[in-house]
Amino acid sequence: MLRMPPPLLVSFTAGDAGAWTIDQLTPVRGETLALAARLDVLEGSGSAPAPDAVWQLRGTTSNLRYTLRKEASALAAVQEGLGRARATCAALIPIRKNDAWWALAQDERRAILEEQSRHVALGMDYLPAVARRLHHCRDIGGPFDFLTWFECAPQDASRFDDLVGALRETAEWNYVVREVDIRLSRAA
Ligand code: HEM
Repeated sequence: MLRMPPPLLVSFTAGDAGAWTIDQLTPVRGETLALAARLDVLEGSGSAPAPDAVWQLRGTTSNLRYTLRKEASALAAVQEGLGRARATCAALIPIRKNDAWWALAQDERRAILEEQSRHVALGMDYLPAVARRLHHCRDIGGPFDFLTWFECAPQDASRFDDLVGALRETAEWNYVVREVDIRLSRAA
């Protein structure tokens, strides 16, 4: 059996501090976020609100919703974790979906995400080059439903762009009402 770690609270704080330099911030859909110099990624409940932040987004890791056992096993067999020495590029892509998405039943959302959009199948081709972590924030309030985080080596960044472009063409993305694409880098 695959082990699912307990939920982890993660804060993404934009401002003057943090290990990651914000290289680019692109509004894709809906309202943008303000530009800042750096991003601090803090794990755990000790990550207190930062009054001086340009903005702060918080989310928690969670259990899987839509992934089938065979997909979860296939992902687990190839994926690598965050924090690899060579993975000095990152992307934080906060996403909000519309009310129509949330009005669907679980099986309908799964059908859109995978049978129609091939989200998992598409993404699988980019492992292990891209490491990822999905944070949920719809249930804890805030302006987004998901904070998606990705890390890769600089030479894989343009392939990652191909994946993001392909996902944005899918039926799943018809339900996305707000998306900001933030690209980052850190010292090797
Ligand atoms: C790097 C390859 C990727 C893989 C292997 C991958 C895989 C997955 C999987 C398995 C899920 C479902 C989790 C569940 O069962 O609850 C998921 C959800 C999600 N992914 Fe990806 N993904 C990838 C890239 C991306 C990218 C580039 C984006 C954003 C541009 C993205 C955005 C999302 C979002 C927002 C969800 C949550 C969907 C929802 O619950 O409605 N993913 N991904």
